[in-house]
Amino acid sequence: MSTPYEAIGQDTLYAVIDRFYYYVEADTRINHLFPGDFEETARKQKQFLTQFLGGPALYTEEHGHPMLRMRHLSFRITPFERDAWVENMTRALNDFEMNSELRSFILQRLEMTAAHMVNTED
Ligand code: HEM
Repeated sequence: MSTPYEAIGQDTLYAVIDRFYYYVEADTRINHLFPGDFEETARKQKQFLTQFLGGPALYTEEHGHPMLRMRHLSFRITPFERDAWVENMTRALNDFEMNSELRSFILQRLEMTAAHMVNTED
């Protein structure tokens, strides 16, 4: 059985992430939260999503345990910001050819993780 990481492939995964941050950078609902160096943010996200989808543990090798919720506590994330994040990711995933079951699976897992990042009520 191949992992979701193998199924999507590194090239497509990285292209999706670059597209995602291209959308986020233009999205005034959430772009103000980011430090501004989207290339560096995308680099970390490539490492993280590689391991999240069953590939090598690139994020942990460089940064230690992800502790994602904790790393997001300094940003005010309400359901509004969560929805914006998920919407940009949905657009980015839809921009690339892939098996539709794989796309739904990845999106579902990311939606669950995004819900977990909410740290402030509306
Ligand atoms: C970092 C926002 C959800 C994974 C960040 C940063 C911001 C942010 C502002 C800092 C960027 C930086 O320091 O370069 C948000 C918002 C979310 C969200 C508004 C809405 C729900 C998620 C989700 C994931 C994720 C669902 C994973 C699936 C990461 C990772 C980093 C990060 C891996 C880099 C952490 C580090 O090592 O500094 N996020 N995020 N985020 N986010 Fe999110």
